[in-house]
Amino acid sequence: MNDPIFNLTHGLYVLTSRLGEKDNGCIIDAVMQMTAMPQRIAIGVQKRNLTNGIIQASRIFNLSILTEETPQSVFQHFGMQSGRDVNKFEKCDAVKRSANGLYYIPKYTNAFLSCKVEQSIDMDTHTLFIASVTESQILGDVQGMTYNNYRKNIKK
Ligand SMILES: Cc1cc2nc3c(=O)[nH]c(=O)nc-3n(C[C@H](O)[C@H](O)[C@H](O)COP(=O)(O)O)c2cc1C
Repeated sequence: MNDPIFNLTHGLYVLTSRLGEKDNGCIIDAVMQMTAMPQRIAIGVQKRNLTNGIIQASRIFNLSILTEETPQSVFQHFGMQSGRDVNKFEKCDAVKRSANGLYYIPKYTNAFLSCKVEQSIDMDTHTLFIASVTESQILGDVQGMTYNNYRKNIKK
């Protein structure tokens, strides 16, 4: 489908959070930087995603910024199955924890941001979380994956 809205440029990210002993993460593209000083971002997360409920409760999340080298398997693993059915981190050895205690993804990423939720806005099917950045780190210099690149070259 060639919908004009697909011409909006989005990146792709692994959104991770943790509640109690449960770590979880999913793929999102709905991310934008809102302010620079202090740094704040907005993310859109489907209510039916397990990650949504975890962030509603924990109020913190990490965003790992995926590069254009990311294989389809990463999108399948984090974006096409739910943490309700599988433990997404069980066989995932390429993960590290940031200062907030949450996982981030060091492979196929060029940076991560740790964030603290300031506001959440109900958007019917989605929640819009507005969050401040509490930590950030550059992980590499490979260009970020865009949603258009994913649609054209990665998606099967
Ligand atoms: C390319 C791609 C982009 C996605 N973008 C979003 C998004 O912006 N927001 C969202 O809530 N889910 C998005 N998803 C869907 C979630 O990643 C997916 O529903 C995931 O399985 C939820 O996992 P969870 O239930 O463990 O949280 C996207 C998935 C893919 C493959």
